Amino acid sequence: MEPHIPANRMLHIKVRGTSICLAVFSKDDIKAFQNVCPHRGAFLSQGSLNFQQEVVCPLHAYRYHCGNGREAENRSPSLRIYTLLWQADGLYIQWP
Ligand code: FES
Repeated sequence: MEPHIPANRMLHIKVRGTSICLAVFSKDDIKAFQNVCPHRGAFLSQGSLNFQQEVVCPLHAYRYHCGNGREAENRSPSLRIYTLLWQADGLYIQWP
């Protein structure tokens, strides 16, 4: 049985000491990216998601696309994106 994951929410997880944000758009559409904003270090998981699949930083409202990591107006380096894999026993993150 798969766990229920609420849609349009963000979760903060730590993997091997690295802070990662999971953006859950639906059960089959989950993105993973660095949780620390490349601009000034705010936690993106405390921001919000918009209808363009962007995460909006809570500090200065820069918008990063959750799929490719690019900031909407090229004001900041891109987010590091992580690949997720569903397996029979759960969701895995591909670690570099
Ligand atoms: S810290 Fe995220 S936009 Fe400035």
